[in-house]
Amino acid sequence: AQRKQIDKVLALFRLTREQLVGVRDKMRVELEYGLKRDTHPLATVKMLPTYVCGMPDGTEKGKFLALDLGGTNFRVLLVKIRSGRRSVRMYNKIFAIPLEIMQGTGEELFDHIVQCIADFLDYMGLKGAQLPLGFTFSFPCRQASIDKGTLIEWTKGFKATDCEGEDVVDMLREAIKRRNADVPLLSLFGLHILLVVELLPLQEFDLDIVAVVNDTVGTMMTCGYEDRNCEVGLIAGTGSNMCYMEEMRNIELVEGDEGKMCINTEWGGFGDNGCLDDIRTQYDKEVDEGSLNPGKQRYEKMTSGMYLGEIVRQILIDLTKQGLLFRGQISERLRTRGIFETKFLSQIESDRLALLQVRRILQQLGLDSTCEDSIVVKEVCGAVSRRAAELYGAGLAAVVEKRREDQGFEHLKITVGVDGTLYKLHPHFSRILQETVKELAPRCDVTFMLSEDGSGKGAALITAVAKRLQQARR
Ligand code: BG6
Ligand code: GLC
Repeated sequence: AQRKQIDKVLALFRLTREQLVGVRDKMRVELEYGLKRDTHPLATVKMLPTYVCGMPDGTEKGKFLALDLGGTNFRVLLVKIRSGRRSVRMYNKIFAIPLEIMQGTGEELFDHIVQCIADFLDYMGLKGAQLPLGFTFSFPCRQASIDKGTLIEWTKGFKATDCEGEDVVDMLREAIKRRNADVPLLSLFGLHILLVVELLPLQEFDLDIVAVVNDTVGTMMTCGYEDRNCEVGLIAGTGSNMCYMEEMRNIELVEGDEGKMCINTEWGGFGDNGCLDDIRTQYDKEVDEGSLNPGKQRYEKMTSGMYLGEIVRQILIDLTKQGLLFRGQISERLRTRGIFETKFLSQIESDRLALLQVRRILQQLGLDSTCEDSIVVKEVCGAVSRRAAELYGAGLAAVVEKRREDQGFEHLKITVGVDGTLYKLHPHFSRILQETVKELAPRCDVTFMLSEDGSGKGAALITAVAKRLQQARR
């Protein structure tokens, strides 16, 4: 009888082929809807124009600074691109963003970012350098050009005040200005020096912010530098998102019909209009209600690393309440949000791991389990991550099919650049995702290319192209 109750819960996460076809078709509808001028403020899949119109052609060169904010790590990078041989050298440093900064004021967040840039330049011996900068900012931004991006709303774990509706490039520039203005006061107090400073403004750095780029776009570019067929960027990490090259004639919000432009779909918001309610479970609803942005990013909350562990935790709480786990005792630990990070899910689901080791991981998490408990926990993790991979596959199938139809091809060969901890660390996720795409888009031959260099490299390449165009216009 106990087994039956457990199976009943697990069955909620098993999607039939029809259901997945339904998800693919609904995604397709939302993609089309978001491209229309009249519907765009209402679209839940936002379909944001990025003003990235082509792939690097190999002639890009120079030294660039890149920032990469919004994933597991915040990075500052120096990227050196040499033309001709397509060789790129990168130096980077990871900086922590404490929770109180992620959820503090916007000024504090941007001051912190600028502090990290200063530390990095210092570390690299580049203080005072004049460099073009590409900003990978992995949140939804409304862009009117490549170097402007208004934050629509925070997603994932960020909630700094006074940023939504503001241009992130302006916020970064303001923070740099604040810092440059502070320099003489911080380091030197003498009147004599202040006078000199007034005559010769002492700037700690002089950065030219050339491009704001979403991580999906950076990933697509990083992979596109190696493979010209790469027309899609996919992130399966803390968050869930996808971008792709769309025909200009289909993008009503941007003037012109020639060529292509990359669209940041922000597909994490898929389902916010209720269209996925038939497959959402009570656990998904609980995760949503306990999140920083209830009601929003519903597809992201069913698929991405930041939330999968939370879904697992909600199921475990319910099974424990029903007396099916942990001797019916809900420990304080189990009540704690965020204990199941992606890396734990990935470890628990590894086939190489003996059950005893699963128990050890649960123990590390403060959960005292029996052997039977550990079997159930592993099954729960498997059901949740399988559904996530299948949902990703259904979403991706919608996009590649759209690309195939738009180009009038019988068959389409396309490469998808992918990044993110869930895709990289999880033992089964990438396989299930790929199988699902094959099944749901049988006329597309999709190659998955893992981005080894993060999206910072892509942001630098985009910056290089933008800089070249900027100079050509002058
Ligand atoms: C990285 C990118 O490689 O992938 C990040 O450089 C991006 O900007 C990330 O957000 C996604 O992965 P995660 O798992 O760190 O969110
Ligand atoms: C969230 C963000 C999106 C980003 C994704 C992956 O969905 O809104 O911009 O690409 O996470 O990091």
